[in-house]
Amino acid sequence: MIVDLVLTNAKAYTNKHVMDCSLAINHSKIFKIGKEPIMPKAETRINLKNLLVLPGLIDAHVHLRDEGKAYKEDFYSGTAAAAAGGITTVLDMPNNDPVTMSVETLKNRMKLAEGKVLVNVGFYSEFPRSMKEIREIVEEGAVAFKLFMVEQVGGLNIDVDHALLEAFRIVSGLKVPVAVHAEDKTSLKKAEEEIRRPKRNDIEAFLKAHSESVEVKAIKRLLNIVKQANTHVHFCHISTENGLKVIIDGKKSGMPITCETTPHHLLLSVKDLRRKGTLALTMPPIREEHHAEALWNGVFNGWIDILGSDHAPHTLEEKKAKVVWDVKVGVPGLETTLPLLLKEVNGGRLTIGDIVKLMAEKPAEIFNLKGRDSLKEGNNADLVVVDLNRKYRVDASKFHSKAKYSPFDGWNVEGKPVKTFVGGQLIMDEGEIVAEAGSGEIIGRG
Ligand code: DOR
Ligand code: ZN
Ligand code: ZN
Repeated sequence: MIVDLVLTNAKAYTNKHVMDCSLAINHSKIFKIGKEPIMPKAETRINLKNLLVLPGLIDAHVHLRDEGKAYKEDFYSGTAAAAAGGITTVLDMPNNDPVTMSVETLKNRMKLAEGKVLVNVGFYSEFPRSMKEIREIVEEGAVAFKLFMVEQVGGLNIDVDHALLEAFRIVSGLKVPVAVHAEDKTSLKKAEEEIRRPKRNDIEAFLKAHSESVEVKAIKRLLNIVKQANTHVHFCHISTENGLKVIIDGKKSGMPITCETTPHHLLLSVKDLRRKGTLALTMPPIREEHHAEALWNGVFNGWIDILGSDHAPHTLEEKKAKVVWDVKVGVPGLETTLPLLLKEVNGGRLTIGDIVKLMAEKPAEIFNLKGRDSLKEGNNADLVVVDLNRKYRVDASKFHSKAKYSPFDGWNVEGKPVKTFVGGQLIMDEGEIVAEAGSGEIIGRG
């Protein structure tokens, strides 16, 4: 038998440890992992020269934009950024133009993405206007629903508890989670108004409005609904000590909830935000150090299930608006997430096993992504080759993303994704995209 590809001299993270081995790949799946003498003949052999091989990472929180927001990012540029960052599967958020919130918008988005993506892409949907379309959206292939609680984006009235309850009850029979941006609209708008009245429009005012209690309030409201509907709720980008505490209490009482935080909430504080200015403005915002400390503890203790980049690209003009309330919030993260985590491995705060758990095993489990959780025979051949010793400086001007800025611009990192394979195909090699648009798979398209 002759297989498509054999990767030789690898140090692969498989079965919870790093093993010196070769990997045979055939028909986009991992065919065999083992010592060189048992490898089959192959069309192509690549010598990895003892570099580390990890399962390709899953980033469950990405805004790929395109369509009406293609000027910020499109399916090609966004997935090129993912490939460059060692991420082989992204889940795309629905706050697009048009909003992904119906069978029709989801179908169109999948079709448009098909010819353009370089990595695998799954899609979130916001809630539709009609409850009966919830099931149809899942049948069409949405991996999860997204509920944005800051303002009305989808078709479900976010101000009405019984509407949320009714929708959540339907979702609980469908085996997909509801991912939530937990900031309470009512208290946020009230705080914003009070702060805006004396014409405050700086970063401090933004921080004051997006307070810890705004996050806590939204989480508590949702937990009340979970208690009644028993729906799997996944809390996106948790940013506060007390927000996490409330989630931990919910988990301890057996609720079906999971949560995520981001590299920027873990690694940055208000000091960085003040230094970088509105370029680093996100929602929820980067906060005081004690919050980051609590989040790190949540990672160490396993209360935080996954890390997501919340890749949220905008143009530089949009980031630099004079009045803070007009600034578009969000930072790109696909090209910095893995390097920043590898730096933490080199610094001793994380292990390779932690990265794999937080960005492959757990997201695969939460979003039901079969065959993408680990390096094992029969799984998809999505993998990233990493040089743990490579030192370099983050240079946002070189990003594949259209958003060429980052709060981590200029940071020295140690550890670099050097090759990304998607379905056994080499997509990125030493920072260059080497595959055709459309090489990635649209997850959920039957
Ligand atoms: O910072 C953010 N950016 N937070 C959000 O909730 C939305 C996102 C975006 O789409 O730009
Ligand atoms: Zn969000
Ligand atoms: Zn987001």
